[in-house]
Amino acid sequence: FPVENIRNFSIVAHVDHGKSTLADRLLELTGTIDKTKNNKQVLDKLQVERERGITVKAQTASLFHNCEGKQYLLNLIDTPGHVDFSYEVSRSLSACQGVLLVVDANEGIQAQTVANFFLAFEAQLSVIPVINKIDLKNADPEMFDIPSDECIKISAKLGTNVESVLQAVIERIPPPKVHRKNPLRALVFDSTFDQYRGVIANVALFDGVVSKGDKIVSAHTQKTYEVNEVGVLNPNEQPTHKLYAGQVGYLIAGMKNVTEAQIGDTLYLHKQPVEPLPGFKSAKPMVFAGMYPVDQSEYNNLKSAIEKLTLNDSSVTVHRDSSLALGAGWRLGFLGLLHMEVFNQRLELEYNASVILTTPTVPYKAVLSSSKLIKARRAVQKNMIFIDQNRVMLKYLFPLNEIVVDFYDSLKSLSSGYASFDYEDAGYQTAELVKMDILLNGNNVEELVTVVHKDKAHSIGKAICERLKDSLPRQLFEIAIQAAIGSKIIARETVKAYRKNVLAKCLLKRQAEGKKKLRKIGNVEVPKDAFIKVLKTQ
Ligand code: GTP
Repeated sequence: FPVENIRNFSIVAHVDHGKSTLADRLLELTGTIDKTKNNKQVLDKLQVERERGITVKAQTASLFHNCEGKQYLLNLIDTPGHVDFSYEVSRSLSACQGVLLVVDANEGIQAQTVANFFLAFEAQLSVIPVINKIDLKNADPEMFDIPSDECIKISAKLGTNVESVLQAVIERIPPPKVHRKNPLRALVFDSTFDQYRGVIANVALFDGVVSKGDKIVSAHTQKTYEVNEVGVLNPNEQPTHKLYAGQVGYLIAGMKNVTEAQIGDTLYLHKQPVEPLPGFKSAKPMVFAGMYPVDQSEYNNLKSAIEKLTLNDSSVTVHRDSSLALGAGWRLGFLGLLHMEVFNQRLELEYNASVILTTPTVPYKAVLSSSKLIKARRAVQKNMIFIDQNRVMLKYLFPLNEIVVDFYDSLKSLSSGYASFDYEDAGYQTAELVKMDILLNGNNVEELVTVVHKDKAHSIGKAICERLKDSLPRQLFEIAIQAAIGSKIIARETVKAYRKNVLAKCLLKRQAEGKKKLRKIGNVEVPKDAFIKVLKTQ
C-alpha cells in the first residue's frame, strides 16, 4: 500500500459521547463488518465492556475505502474513554496523525473532551471536531465556537452524515511520515494475551519492514524474539506476509505475558539496533486494595484467575499479602477505581471467582520524623478557564486520597450531572496524616489500621466504629469500640452485654455456630464477616 494512501487516526471523546457507535458505523460503511448482523460495538470485545458499555482496552481495525478512484487504508485506533486509562489514550495517539474529537451535541464539551484535545494537540495531530447525536431533541450543534465548515455534524446512531467523516479523514489527516528503507522501528501501542498464541502485540510501524522469521528486540526488556506471525486487524487478526512502515497491525513473537510487550515499547531488528521512540513510561498504579477469596479453599483458583488476568493487563501490580481476619490474599495496585472495579468484575464474569476487596488506599511516602512543621495541604486551586459562556474549567491540586473513592459521584450529584472530571498525577506532597487504630476493649485490630488526614480522622473513625457496632454480636460483657490516634481516643461506640435471661439461649446458639470461624481480639470474639462488612467497599 503506498504510504500516501494510508491514514492512521483515532476517535477520542468524553465517556458516552458515542465513540464506539461511530466506530461501528465506520466499520459498516467500509464493509469491514456486515450491516445486517447485530454488530453493535464490535470494538468493545470484552464482556465487561459490553456489560458496562465502556471501552477498557483499546482495539484497532483497518478499513479499506475507495475515494475518487483511489483505494485508501484507514487504520482506526479505538481508545478507552475513562481517565483511568489516559496513558493508553496517549500511546494510541502516538500511532496516529489525526483524531476525530467526538462531542455530544446535548452535553457539549466535557472534562475528557478538553483533556483529549490537549493530548492530541501536544502530539501535533490534526483534530477533526465531530458533533454527534444531532438527532436528539435538545441537541444544539450550533453552540460550539468552531467555524461550522470545520465541524462535522452527525448522528452515529442513525448513520446520518457519517460518509463525510470518512471524507474528512482522507482530506484533513496527513499520511504518516515514515521511511520504509530505514531499519525497523515499531511502536507497541497495545497488547493482549491469547491462551494458545501467547502475546499479540499491536504495533504501528514508523520505519522499515517486518516479516515472519525476523529476529526482533524489545527496547524496554532487551529480550530477543523470533517473529511467528504478522498481520492486519480487520478487526480480527488476518495474517499478511509483511508489515510496512505506515501500517498498523499485529505481531506475534513468542512473548509469554504482556509485561514483555508493554504499551509504549519500541521493537527493532536484532541486527539493526535503533534509538527507541520517545515517551515510554511504565504504567503506574495509583490505587491499592487487598483482595481475598471469600472462602480460603478457593485460594488456588483465585490465584490462577488473577495470574491469567494480569497476563493481559500489565498495569495491575500484584503482591502476596495476608490478614489474620481474611486469610491469605494479595495486595493489588490499579490505575484508578474504575480499573479496580473492572478487574474485579472480570474475575467474576470470566473466572467465576468470588472475592473480598478491602477499602482502596493510595500510596503514601512516609518520612518518620518528629517535625511538627509540616503544614496540612488540602485542595489548592491552580487556575480557572472559561470554555464558553456557560462552562468553566477549574484546576485544583488535590490529595489523591480525597478524590479516589467517592469524589466523582459526589461531584456528579452536587452538579445534577453537569460537572465532569479528569485527573493526572502531580507527584507527592507533604500532608498532615495520622495513623488511626481501631481498638476492641483496648486491643488493637490490625486489619482496620488506616492512614487518614488529621482533619478527617474524627468522622472516619466514628463511621468505622458505628459500622463495627452494627456487625458485632453481643457477648457476655460490654465491648468498647474505639478509634484512637496514638493514645488519644477520638470516637467510641459500645456494644452492650447480654442480659442474664437470654444468656442460656445465646450459649446454645453459640454452640450451634461453633464451627463458624471467629477471630479473638483480646477477650472479644469477632465473626469473620464483621471485618468484611467494615472493610468491604461495595
Ligand atoms: P465509552 O466507550 O464508555 O467511552 O463510550 P462511547 O463514547 O464509546 O459511547 P457509545 O458509543 O457507547 O455511546 C453511548 C450512548 O450514546 C449509547 O447508548 C449510544 O446508543 C448513544 N448514542 C451514540 N451515538 C448516538 C447518536 O447519534 N444519537 C443518539 N440519540 N444516541 C447516540
